[in-house]
Amino acid sequence: MNKKYYVIANFKMNLTYNQTKEYLNNFSTIYKLENQNLYLGFALSPDITSLGQIYKNSNLKIGTQNISEFEKGSYTGECSILNCIDNNINFAIIGHYERKHYFQETLLKINKKISLCQKYNILPIVCVGESLEEFMSGRTIEALESQLLTIKRNLVEKNIILSYEPIYAIGNGKTPEYKHILKVVNFIKTFFNNSIPVLYGGSVNALNINELSKIKSLDGFLVGNASLEYKSFNNLINLIKK
Ligand code: 13P
Repeated sequence: MNKKYYVIANFKMNLTYNQTKEYLNNFSTIYKLENQNLYLGFALSPDITSLGQIYKNSNLKIGTQNISEFEKGSYTGECSILNCIDNNINFAIIGHYERKHYFQETLLKINKKISLCQKYNILPIVCVGESLEEFMSGRTIEALESQLLTIKRNLVEKNIILSYEPIYAIGNGKTPEYKHILKVVNFIKTFFNNSIPVLYGGSVNALNINELSKIKSLDGFLVGNASLEYKSFNNLINLIKK
């Protein structure tokens, strides 16, 4: 692993504050950082980002699964970026499919969130991906291009990571063929003149991570279900071959 490589656990809304605290505590006792180039992150539910304070000076990067597009003010129930800064949050997942689907997150909101992250030096990890229908009708690149164009148009800094997450691969144990992932990852990279890391997310697990990590242009993974048990997740990290 010579280049910087990212592995991000996305716990979604599966673990409570106490469970997350226990997980991170257990994980940090067995985890051995074998490569300085590995950026290992845990995306926590926004209401428990205060755990970030415990890991301020650790090998583990703590992130949030969402932030508000507003900086401050009367926005009842929103996730404040200023609060994330107080809690030493390193990164934010932005525009995950589940946010778009269940919470009507639009590209306009996503762009505002990216700008806010860049203003406050929180690394935005932005999710893009096509639907099953778009994939089946051969419109993957077209679908991706329109999402990327909007992101690129508003981008002021290169401090951003993209994660390719095909909607039909999330949470069901099935990944697209590796050559499809390779094609899309290369497309995204070229779109940004090879200046931005690109991750893959969608049913990454202990059975496929070894093969997936052979995709040279890929810079890492976003892992959902397979990150929820600390020992299995630690094993999964060790299966990455670079
Ligand atoms: P799964 O790994 O459970 O498919 O989730 C992927 C994902 O949504 C990561 O953000």
